[in-house]
Amino acid sequence: MATIELCERVATRPTWAEVSLTALRQNFRVLERHVGHGVTICAIVKADAYGHGAVECSRALQEEGARWFGVTSLDEAIPLREAGIGGNILLLTGFWRGEEEEIVRLKLTPTVWEPEQIELLDKAAGERGVRHGVHLKVDTGMGRLGVAPHELPRICSALRSSPHLVLEGLSTHFASSEVLDAPSVPDQLSCFRDVCRSLKQEGFDPPVLHTANTAAIISRRESWNTMVRPGIALYGYYLPFERAGREVSGSGLRLGVRPVLSWKTRILSLRDVPRHQALGYGGIYVTKAPARIAVLPVGYADGLHRALSSRGRVIVREHYAPIVGRISMDLTLVDVTGLPGIAVGDEAVLLGTSDGLSVDAHEHAMLAHTVVYEILCGISKRVPRKYVA
Ligand SMILES: Cc1ncc(COP(=O)(O)O)c(C=O)c1O
Repeated sequence: MATIELCERVATRPTWAEVSLTALRQNFRVLERHVGHGVTICAIVKADAYGHGAVECSRALQEEGARWFGVTSLDEAIPLREAGIGGNILLLTGFWRGEEEEIVRLKLTPTVWEPEQIELLDKAAGERGVRHGVHLKVDTGMGRLGVAPHELPRICSALRSSPHLVLEGLSTHFASSEVLDAPSVPDQLSCFRDVCRSLKQEGFDPPVLHTANTAAIISRRESWNTMVRPGIALYGYYLPFERAGREVSGSGLRLGVRPVLSWKTRILSLRDVPRHQALGYGGIYVTKAPARIAVLPVGYADGLHRALSSRGRVIVREHYAPIVGRISMDLTLVDVTGLPGIAVGDEAVLLGTSDGLSVDAHEHAMLAHTVVYEILCGISKRVPRKYVA
């Protein structure tokens, strides 16, 4: 019988993402300087650090002094603890029944908003003979997670009956912090302050208060409290801000962070095609003149958004080369007509800066009618991440 020898797989398909840990560290320092010493930074590294690699990014941030990390759930926290992340790990979206013992064992900080969560955690902490910190989330208007302010008395009574828990933090999340004239933001903040006051009257005074994501960190100093939760700014981006329904930018709305991730590939094949040649699925793009087309080994299965078909561009040999035809699962065509010296194996930059030219995730997001977050999180696991200084 034939035997198949299994050997360790070496990634040879030349499509990869470069993650600059130097840029990440610098962005963290920029944020630290921006908020000053009195405000703690909780580095949001959920969703595999927005596609950048949570373990590697958290390690770099820990070395840079980060002491708080935000993930969505226990599944995301475990690899961080295993990788030696010793600081506080905040579980932003609570936990599932049955996870409470692991949460206490790993000293994770769960977000809670229901009496049942408090009871489960208290029991788990009691069994270990420890006191465990929790953060209460209040829904001040996002309409997503959190206790409604009028339900606070139930939470307070559950906390009072939980001798093994400490209410260490209180949080909320803004629905529209990037909208500079959104009345919901001051409304949410004032609701948050009311909740702080009510909790004090009930005998609780959590020291860690946090509400601000990237947009609020940049534009609303009054929202910082004692801790802020930047995600996208760490990775070098922030949202376009809006006022009166229109995009605005201005020096007061810039932080000086820079993109951490570049995405690259190499030309797999070059073909000279005549005029009137239909290219790719559906033949939606037809050449107007003889053209030289490069085939790139990257497609929507890698996370290159199909909406960039015949709209996006890459950087090759110091030029922008337009994407032509439909992006398919594994391949993308770009027009490299007239580019001098072009050859199979040449590097093509999908996201990043090269020779003074740049394509960033904002551009992809705009063309795909989505947000930078989805572009970054959408770069699939098939794309190996290489960590560079
Ligand atoms: C609760 C919470 N806090 C903070 C963040 C970080 O937001 P941003 O990436 O806009 O800074 C997120 C991201 O979605 C979040 O869900």
